[in-house]
Amino acid sequence: MNNSYVTQKNWWKESAAGIPMLITETPGPKSKVMHANTTKYMKGLSGQVKLFPVCFKEGAGITMTDVDGNKYLDFSSGIYVTSLGHCHPKISEAVSFWAKKLMNAHDFTTPVKEKLMEKMASILPGNLNAIQLYSDGTTAVEASIRAARAISGKHEFISAYRDFHGKTLGSVSCAQMYRGEVHSYGPTRAAGFYMVPRPDPYRPLWSKTDGTIDTNAYIRFYENFLIEGTVGNVAAFILEPVQGWGGSIFPPDDFFPKLKKLCDKYGILLIDDEVLAGMGRTGDWLTLNHWGVIPDIVTFGKSFGNGFPVTAMVVSEENGDALEKISASSSYGGNPMACAASLASIEVIEDEDILQNVNTVGEYFMKRMLKMKEQHPIIGDVKGKGFLLGIELVKDKKTKEPFIEAGTLVYQKAFKRGLAWIPAGHILRMSPPLIMSEKYAAMGMDIIEDTITEVEKEFGYN
Ligand SMILES: Cc1ncc(COP(=O)(O)O)c(C=O)c1O
Repeated sequence: MNNSYVTQKNWWKESAAGIPMLITETPGPKSKVMHANTTKYMKGLSGQVKLFPVCFKEGAGITMTDVDGNKYLDFSSGIYVTSLGHCHPKISEAVSFWAKKLMNAHDFTTPVKEKLMEKMASILPGNLNAIQLYSDGTTAVEASIRAARAISGKHEFISAYRDFHGKTLGSVSCAQMYRGEVHSYGPTRAAGFYMVPRPDPYRPLWSKTDGTIDTNAYIRFYENFLIEGTVGNVAAFILEPVQGWGGSIFPPDDFFPKLKKLCDKYGILLIDDEVLAGMGRTGDWLTLNHWGVIPDIVTFGKSFGNGFPVTAMVVSEENGDALEKISASSSYGGNPMACAASLASIEVIEDEDILQNVNTVGEYFMKRMLKMKEQHPIIGDVKGKGFLLGIELVKDKKTKEPFIEAGTLVYQKAFKRGLAWIPAGHILRMSPPLIMSEKYAAMGMDIIEDTITEVEKEFGYN
């Protein structure tokens, strides 16, 4: 494998000089034409693209440049994907090396796969070291469902309101999609898949007398649901460690430890879908590491290949046979380019002290957001860990009514000021590249805060 890249923590800084750099109104004239030409044929775009139809031509580190020459500060990493910056030289070099040498060898071993397997086993907790590779998150989730069935011999699954796990039939059965979409083409939840509420500290369903969220009440509800609402054949709980699509919603610290205890009591597996939150985004390889919980099955995606489509499903060693039973391999999973992208990404996280940066700058983000919450009438809640962040906009801090119109306006106006990002409705989601220094973190937060102030004025606040 090519080792010519020499680690340089600051490889991206030159490309960030002078950003944001805006030379036309955005979206600019070329963007508009190209978007119109494309969408004549391409359908089914996400809401964010429809609201801000810009056309990007390149990315470097923490910046993205559109076809009109406007250069943006990236606060989304694609969609939580290019976490080590756009076109990290080591990762691009590793992929292009194998693109010229060997693109696919079925699921035979290759030298780069050997290295990746060893590297993954070294970073994963406990006995999590029976691995299979895929090309998108939803396929890894599908595999986790099949593996859980093979391990447990059971067939029911429990997920949670506002969890998201992908868009194929099994994973959509564990996910909440927009109501209109789901109902417009018939039932999408397969039989035996259930949803339960999970704790959102800002909007608790069950609280203690002091007003704080009551995790025990959720766990009691689950226990009751297992007995009354299922046929006693539950294979697994399948959950995101943090709800990403749902708006960066972190559970209380005691939730996963208590849930794992409940799972163990009933012989139920815990599938931890780390496609969005894993591989450094919250400051550790797995977000569940923060709570000392080792899942039975884990999925990775997005940051796992820093933009190259490579994902993984991992079970513990003692359950490795399940991967034989489900014939776990696929056509593209683990191709040499994919393995190279993933191996290089993990090495970059290690060599460039990325977890340390995420934890340090993450603290800055949290402090800044807490201050903003105090000062702004429409900021109801702020949440996050590391570089997985959210600001929830509400019409009134007491009623907590979601302020979707403000969310949409803040999104569009901040983009116009040079911030490339992907909020969701009234929750301003932020997922900057993990290489970002405090200087650029502050620049992005300044843009967001200035925009919130402007939008508050437009809506008649302060
Ligand atoms: C937690 C989680 N799981 C699975 C998926 C599906 O991944 P993909 O879009 O690569 O199929 C996503 C995508 O956003 C996700 O956030």
